[in-house]
Amino acid sequence: MTDENDFAQQLDRARRALSGAGRVAVLTGAGVSVESGVPAYRGVGGIWQEVPMEEVATPEAFARDPKKVWDWHAEKRARLGQVRPNAAHKALATLERQIANRGGRFLLATQNIDGLHQIAGSWNVLELHGSLVRIRCSGCRHKQSVGFDESPGPPGCPECGEPMRPDVVWFGEALDEDIFRTAVRAVISSEVFLTVGTSSLVYPAAGLVEAAADGEAHIIEVNLEPTPATPLADVALHGKATEILPELVR
Ligand code: APR
Repeated sequence: MTDENDFAQQLDRARRALSGAGRVAVLTGAGVSVESGVPAYRGVGGIWQEVPMEEVATPEAFARDPKKVWDWHAEKRARLGQVRPNAAHKALATLERQIANRGGRFLLATQNIDGLHQIAGSWNVLELHGSLVRIRCSGCRHKQSVGFDESPGPPGCPECGEPMRPDVVWFGEALDEDIFRTAVRAVISSEVFLTVGTSSLVYPAAGLVEAAADGEAHIIEVNLEPTPATPLADVALHGKATEILPELVR
């Protein structure tokens, strides 16, 4: 059998699993937004090749040099003003509507901080790693939206004066407990778990595929290349998310 036939068969299996499913959970990573012009973190052209994450994405880095960390995030935030959701984001929004229309349950947990799923029309989105368009106080509980503001900083908190910081989860920080618990519950009880555009290297998000495998879920992976999640997948579709996802939800 040719690779092409094999791919078509795998796609067909994945499509059939999705078309009959009432409970679907999705995990996305940076690969979903690459074709919108937002770079991934790892691999050639990845963000962590441009700058070591220890310099800009840890609480220690922020304590050491708040301006450097703030300005780096502000520049990334400003660039979000110029990007648009792509066919992969839109296909996931369509999938959610299809499932809602048949009375099913759908949850999209994303590691991305770019907000593109929501702009594409996804409703039930959990931002596991926070959002670049929100900031929060490093001292008190104050949070606010900042849009695509690129002002250098960090500004002081309007409530307590401590420095504001991006409302994102850095290395060495815990995810919001409620958010992660909700994601785990949805994944464990899902009939289909779809993992898209993530290297599956960063925990705890990467553990969601293991949670899916412990449950009953039919696991579908869509990624440019194999990852540590691939051996757990019932169907692994390797290629661009913008090409595969529209085919999957057609
Ligand atoms: N279509 C599908 N997959 C793609 C595409 C594409 N067009 N482009 C890249 N990929 C795949 C890559 O092959 C890679 O496996 O997407 C994956 C992106 O991996 P990472 O850059 O590691 O991104 P992600 O998994 O989201 O990173 C997780 O790590 O640095 C932290 O907090 C950051 O949320 C991030 C977390």
